Amino acid sequence: MKLSGAQLTAYARDGFVVLPSLLSGEEVQEMKRELKRIQQIDTDHLVREKTGGIAKTIYKVHETQSPTASPVFHALSRAPRLLEPAQQLLNDPALYIHHTKCNLKTAIDGSVWQWHQDFGTWHLDGVPNPTMTTALVMLDEPTEMGGCLYFIPASHKLGSLQPAFDDATGYRFYVVPKPTMLDILSTHPKAVPIMGAPGTVVFFDANIVHSSGHNLSGDDRWQAYIVYNPVANRPADVEKPRPDYVRSTNFMPLQLGSDDILNQRHAVHDYESGLDAVR
Ligand code: SIN
Ligand code: MN
Repeated sequence: MKLSGAQLTAYARDGFVVLPSLLSGEEVQEMKRELKRIQQIDTDHLVREKTGGIAKTIYKVHETQSPTASPVFHALSRAPRLLEPAQQLLNDPALYIHHTKCNLKTAIDGSVWQWHQDFGTWHLDGVPNPTMTTALVMLDEPTEMGGCLYFIPASHKLGSLQPAFDDATGYRFYVVPKPTMLDILSTHPKAVPIMGAPGTVVFFDANIVHSSGHNLSGDDRWQAYIVYNPVANRPADVEKPRPDYVRSTNFMPLQLGSDDILNQRHAVHDYESGLDAVR
């Protein structure tokens, strides 16, 4: 699938583009079924909320070799519906996945993500340039009360801001420091809530400033994120690299798969079962 000229212009101008109804209800249901299964697994690829043991983030669902592997996410990340727009946005056919993460912001328990740029962390991973794009997949209908994401339109044009490590608030990661953030909020257009029906996909720039609040509602806000990076922009070696499930070292260019992700899912599963049989 190719993005139109108007969609490419919107992405360059705003730092994101919304693609409604990119996935079907049946495809979304299968992904939710998979995440319900995976959230029971005891692994370091899964971060839990501070209270109640509820899954907050599940990493590395897109590979075959992972405790959190999922055939439908493997197929989704290579489907022309996602991979071709990513290739267009990055102007490069040879992409790999820096990581996938599924943020299960579950009713009542799902917690805040402070204002940040994703590239703040990825640059520290050793990635040289912010020429990366993320596909956000809505698996529920996000709402403001339910902790939807907020983007500051055009904030990607600020370039890469000096991040600060925040281990006090919620998820421990690199955020935009408060004085910088107050300045951005007073000089930019209002942050926009990113909402849509399940199956909506949003591509966004690695430098866009974004955040999301607590889920105060009675409805889950589950979302999946696939981060595409050109192989040519792979990370340099760093001291103490983060684990492979957040800083992938699989730099093989992704092969374009099929948009029939529910049937592809069975193909990968059969392949995996075949491997199991010969092990
Ligand atoms: C993120 O920005 O990385 C996650 C935010 C969210 O899922 O609300
Ligand atoms: Mn982020």
